[in-house]
Amino acid sequence: MAVDLLLGLQWGDEGKGKIVDVLTTGYDIIARFQGGPNAGHTLEFDGIKHVLHTIPSGIFHKNALNIVGNGVVIDPVIFKKELDALKKFNLDVKSKLLISRKAHLILPTHRLLDAASEASKGKAKIGSTLKGIGPTYMDKTGRNGMRIGDLEMSDWKEKYRNLANKHEAMIAYYNVDIQYDLAELEKDFFESIEELKQLSFIDSEEYLYQAQKSGKKILAEGAQGSLLDIDFGTYPFVTSSNTTAAGACTGLGVAPNQIGDVKGIFKAYTTRVGSGPFPTELFDEDGETMARVGNEFGATTGRPRRCGWLDLVALKYAVIINGVTELMMMKADVLSGFDTLKICTAYNYKGDKIEHLPFNIEAENVTPIYSEMKGWKEDLTKMSSADQLPDTLQAYIDFLEKELEVPIKIVSVGPDRTQTIHR
Ligand code: IMP
Repeated sequence: MAVDLLLGLQWGDEGKGKIVDVLTTGYDIIARFQGGPNAGHTLEFDGIKHVLHTIPSGIFHKNALNIVGNGVVIDPVIFKKELDALKKFNLDVKSKLLISRKAHLILPTHRLLDAASEASKGKAKIGSTLKGIGPTYMDKTGRNGMRIGDLEMSDWKEKYRNLANKHEAMIAYYNVDIQYDLAELEKDFFESIEELKQLSFIDSEEYLYQAQKSGKKILAEGAQGSLLDIDFGTYPFVTSSNTTAAGACTGLGVAPNQIGDVKGIFKAYTTRVGSGPFPTELFDEDGETMARVGNEFGATTGRPRRCGWLDLVALKYAVIINGVTELMMMKADVLSGFDTLKICTAYNYKGDKIEHLPFNIEAENVTPIYSEMKGWKEDLTKMSSADQLPDTLQAYIDFLEKELEVPIKIVSVGPDRTQTIHR
């Protein structure tokens, strides 16, 4: 049985949580493969709205097993809060949630280092969620990190102390004004680790291999989006992991020839939270309308998201890098009411028309070239089948499918599980 992937194709916040939740009934296992609590996957069903950060979005389904893979970085303090918030749902989380021994731990000092690093950058700051993601992956690739499996060893506190001491020296080096009480942070951290230890730690690559062999259906759930990928995103304004399809191979131990469907998810427009280039960004009423109607505020930080028209140049790039086999278009309902919709089909790059994403997409180098389409006025939120969609939306979908050469299988028309149109 091949492993299917679900990935965000823009700058994150495409609505992966909702779609994993919708698709989960078809899968036995949902596995997160990268990122950490910088992610905020929002699920809405039965009048409930719930945000997950590290725990896979299959947790609400009775029969799905959830795995936090080796590529993920885990903050025990946030993880404990997530577990606490799930208590009211009586989900038997203990038997439904397994954690890779090879996943890395976010220490309190990683969070402090993130804050110190961002503060030292001044105007050039990345706009990090300050969850300690970058410093934790730095320790991973620097071969200094602490892993979940270390918690099963008797000397883990010693390892912790050595690493935290090193971090304190690094924080001092940044020479910025960061106030903290490490003893207080550590109290929380050690308590949370005890809670984390109540869950099952597994050799997840072996577990997934055996599950696959026995015919289990597995969905790998991505976090963030392709344009935040450490290699292929808008570097340095990116996150610190491979958010693209290859990240699922390294983040779960699944071989490339075992990947099946690659489900790419995008919004009918574009948003970005944090700093960095965004060629189709709007600074006018249209952008404000998208932000207001789409309720565009970060699920993790609450920060307002920047909004703009759909960027097909960037979307094509993401489709290619990931080998997307089917697409899911989110938030089509948010575009209801615009007379005209714009789609960026090329860039004017230093005077030349180009149709690929160049090395440098800062505003001074790139001006978007738009195609215009007629908008739709209908309220889509009550629609439940593809034949109800207005002709103008159908034309929008046809145009995208022709340009991207990949079918759009799902159109989402609202945040709830039920507001999902399958094509
Ligand atoms: P970090 O990964 O928290 O350090 O953030 C690096 C960049 O990625 C910042 O611009 C963040 O706003 C962005 N980012 C990180 N996680 C997410 C996410 O889940 N959705 C959208 N943007 C994100």
